[in-house]
Order: sequence, then C-alpha cells, then structure tokens
Amino acid sequence: MTEPLLSVQGLVKEFHGRGVGASRPVVRAVDDVSFDVHPGEALGLVGESGSGKTTIGRLIVRLEEPTAGRVEVRGQDVRRLAGRGLLEYRRDVQMIFQNTQGAFNPRRTVRSVLADGFQIHGLASGRELDERIGDLMRRVGLSPEMLDRYPQQFSGGQRQRIGIARALALEPALVVADEPVSALDVSVQAQVLNLFADLRRDLGLSMLFISHDLRAVYFLCERIAVLYLGRLVEIGPRRTLLENPVHPYTRALVGSIPAFRPGGGFTRDVIRGEISDSGPAPTGCHFAPRCQLWRELGRPARCTQERPLLRPVTGGGLAACHFGDTPPDDRTIDADTVAGGVAGGVV
Ligand SMILES: Nc1ncnc2c1ncn2[C@@H]1O[C@H](COP(=O)(O)OP(=O)(O)O)[C@@H](O)[C@H]1O
Ligand code: SF4
Ligand SMILES: [Mg+2]
Repeated sequence: MTEPLLSVQGLVKEFHGRGVGASRPVVRAVDDVSFDVHPGEALGLVGESGSGKTTIGRLIVRLEEPTAGRVEVRGQDVRRLAGRGLLEYRRDVQMIFQNTQGAFNPRRTVRSVLADGFQIHGLASGRELDERIGDLMRRVGLSPEMLDRYPQQFSGGQRQRIGIARALALEPALVVADEPVSALDVSVQAQVLNLFADLRRDLGLSMLFISHDLRAVYFLCERIAVLYLGRLVEIGPRRTLLENPVHPYTRALVGSIPAFRPGGGFTRDVIRGEISDSGPAPTGCHFAPRCQLWRELGRPARCTQERPLLRPVTGGGLAACHFGDTPPDDRTIDADTVAGGVAGGVV
C-alpha cells in the first residue's frame, strides 16, 4: 500500500448548540472518525443531512479546527503547518462547495476569479496567465469567450463548472467536493458527475466526494464511507458496500434506492423516525432507535450500552455493528444498474 495522501485520525468536532451559558448543549458533529484517501483514489462520504459530512470537509481544508484528533496530508499534521508548508497545503487541497450561488463574489468576472490562485502563488502572469485560464475553461467544458462575464450570468451547472475550474487551477492533489451536484437539475447532475469522472481519469485526482446520494458516490468512487450522526458506521470497496452491506443503516440506505430495492428487503420507510436534534445522542449505538435488526433481535441491551467499533467484515470493509454478521437478507443486487442510472441522467 502506498502512503495515504490524506489521513484522518480520531477526528472529533463539537459545537455548542442553542441556549445560554452552561445550559448550551454540546453537539458532537464528528465523533471519532478515521479514514485514509490514497493517491489517485476517490473516497465517497455518504450520510443523511446533519451526519457531519460538511464538517469533516471543512476540518480537512482547515475552515474549522478539530476538538480532538488530526488531519494529515502527505504525513504532515495540517495544524502544525506554517510558512511554505502551509502555502503548499493551500495549493494541494481544494474544496468545492454545494452552493454555487454564494460561492463567488458577484462583482468579479470569472477571469478575475480564476486568476486569483495563479497571482497569489506567483505562478503565471500576462499571456501565460490568459492561456492557462482559457485552458481551464475548456477543461471544464466552458468557452473561454465567457471569461469576462459575471458569475450570476451563468446557469447553476455552469457556475459549478467554474467552481471546479477554480479548484483545479493550482493542480491540487486532493479535491474535497461537498455535495457538488445536489443543488443542480437532474439532467445537469449527470453532466457534472461525468465531468468529475473525466477529470479523475485525465488528471489522476484524489477526491473526497461528499454526497447524500449513494448512487452518485457509487458512480464516482472506488470506496465508500457511510456516516451516521457523526460516526463512521461502515467503509469498504464500493461493490461490496452496495452488494453486501453489513451495517443495518447501510442496508437501509441501499434498500432505499429504487433500482436496488431487493424483494422483501428494506424499503424507504424502514429507517423510521428522524435524526433527533435535541441534545446529546444516546449512549451505545446511535442507530439503535431506528434499527430494524435491533428490533428483530429483541432489543438487546448491548446496542444501547456499548458503542460498536469498526471491525473487519467479509469483502474487505469495516463495519461498526455488534450484530452485523447476522446473515443479510436473501437478495441479489447488481451494482452496475446504479452506475447506469447515474450516467444516463436518472439521478
Ligand atoms: N457552526 C456550527 N455551529 C453549531 N452546530 C453546527 C455548526 N456546523 C454544523 N453544526 C451541527 O453539526 C451537525 C453536522 O452538520 P453538518 O456537518 O453540516 O452535516 P451534513 O453536512 O452531513 O448535513 C449538525 O447537527 C449541525 O447542526
Ligand atoms: S449495534 Fe445494534 S443497534 Fe447498532 S446497528 Fe448494530 S444491531 Fe443495530
Ligand atoms: Mg452538508
């Protein structure tokens, strides 16, 4: 195995919720999360809203400071970086955001937005700068003739392409893409996902691709990590994770995709109840209140008392469930129907 490009180790992030003084509840948005991304690899991070995906992305690019744990890029603790090391890291790791509307200053042309990185890092000027900016536009499927327009003169899909161009300008090693297609129309989502796939192939980009949509993540990533209320509940090769999910939450997610719904297996309404926003999560397994397996097994106390830790499961992944080895439903799933659906625009 090569040395990881990104290594996230025991990452914890707590926020103070609403309230006054000591009564303000502490929200553990990220709760002891560890994973690696290897050079050239794309890791997908999935989970429903509020599971901590964005916070993990922001911790990686240092828009937030962790409460505990660390983020390493090329073996270096990013909190300790300063001077030249910090400048290199700022080039090496780029983030793409979901909200293309707020991502740009409306008073600046696309040309000046794309020129920023080159100028800050002293990489190009004059004619060379113009050429490189033109190349970037073509690379993301836009015409260089559009460079002197303002961001709001573009459609959402085009603005996201500009966001991608901005992230790629400095030839980063790692891109953290936070729900980059979620705000786009369905037909445009497929185009932008295909652009990401082309960029990965042509540039050998490593990515942390964050999404609530398991199909988008399956389409783009070799490995998938599943997050539930701040904790990593399962991580593994994409095929294993979709064809033979071990954690009940992953099984429910997979079962909620129409093309994947196995006869007699989980369906959308199996994940009963909503994530609670009121105060600290229960001890033990966070998923217990919504877990079908827990109910089937007669509500064992271990699930509510002891936090399940990630451990190896068949197929090369890890899952955090005390009873995850209980034989899964009898179902046959063809993972490629998912990729077909995404590439064909049926996201
Ligand atoms: N700046 C903040 N202050 C307080 N709570 C926050 C802040 N940012 C995120 N949270 C809380 O952390 C949890 C995870 O949020 P987030 O990382 O945005 O999840 P996701 O991206 O998966 O939807 C949520 O409960 C959210 O309300
Ligand atoms: S540890 Fe228990 S409650 Fe948690 S997912 Fe596994 S069976 Fe369900
Ligand atoms: Mg988010």
